[in-house]
Amino acid sequence: MRLAGRTAIVTGAGSGIGRASAVLFAKEGAFVGLVDRDRTGLQETLVAIEGAKGEASMHVGDVSEADFAKDTVGGVMARRGRLDVLMAAAGFSCGGTVLTTDPADWDAVFRTNVGGTWLWSRAAVPEMQRQGGGSIITLASQLAIAGGRGNSAYIAAKGAIISLTRTMALDFATDGIRVNAIAPGAIDTPMLRRSFARHADPELVREASRDRHAMKRFGRAEEVAETALHLASDASSFTTGTVMVVDGGWLAA
Ligand SMILES: NC(=O)c1ccc[n+]([C@@H]2O[C@H](COP(=O)([O-])OP(=O)(O)OC[C@H]3O[C@@H](n4cnc5c(N)ncnc54)[C@H](O)[C@@H]3O)[C@@H](O)[C@H]2O)c1
Repeated sequence: MRLAGRTAIVTGAGSGIGRASAVLFAKEGAFVGLVDRDRTGLQETLVAIEGAKGEASMHVGDVSEADFAKDTVGGVMARRGRLDVLMAAAGFSCGGTVLTTDPADWDAVFRTNVGGTWLWSRAAVPEMQRQGGGSIITLASQLAIAGGRGNSAYIAAKGAIISLTRTMALDFATDGIRVNAIAPGAIDTPMLRRSFARHADPELVREASRDRHAMKRFGRAEEVAETALHLASDASSFTTGTVMVVDGGWLAA
């Protein structure tokens, strides 16, 4: 088991990529603190982990709340005495160009995606420093590298996450803390389905997005989870400050 005896916290664990990663981490021996604002989703993840004889705890709240991050990390530390992995996967998009994005939506996208990454890292890093190391995994997007239309707040936020990942990697490298981003292509999750549903002809947009990948298919959350496991485990012990692209060839095309 590649994470035996380790402790992880995964935000956005109530669905999609966060859930698949949390389940895989637990199957590989980690205790996982599951974080999401969706209680029902978290319960489903917990059931999946317990069904696989794994161990986890549930923490319901909004990742953009500083106290929630601090209290959850404190609670996991009290129970486990260490924190080896933080995966900040909670995120969402609102769609829209800079002309059509409502300022409140812009703020919410930044608060969750960028603020959530920052606040949970801020709570986790001192614990990782104390124990001499850890791995932080952030969620960017292939669109932050390639660009994309009609999703300006989200794409700008994902670009900020890549920059934040690199700066944290440099700031904490000598503490033994590795910080890496994953940039997925379009992964078949509820978030992706919601983003297609915003369009006048969702099926047309869905097909165009699928075919934009060299592999002519969407990714699965489990495929991103395998990369997260690599970054969480000692298999990636000399990897920091990188962006791991998991995009079915989107960027190569
Ligand atoms: N699905 C894709 O195509 C894709 C592509 C690139 C990047 N990503 C990124 O991967 C991550 C996971 O996305 P997903 O596709 O699994 O989405 P998802 O919607 O299936 O899961 C995201 C989870 O985050 C939670 N969440 C959102 N905002 C929150 C908040 N403020 N506080 C607490 N929980 C919150 C949701 O409740 C949900 O359970 C996101 O950061 C997303 O931007 C996804």
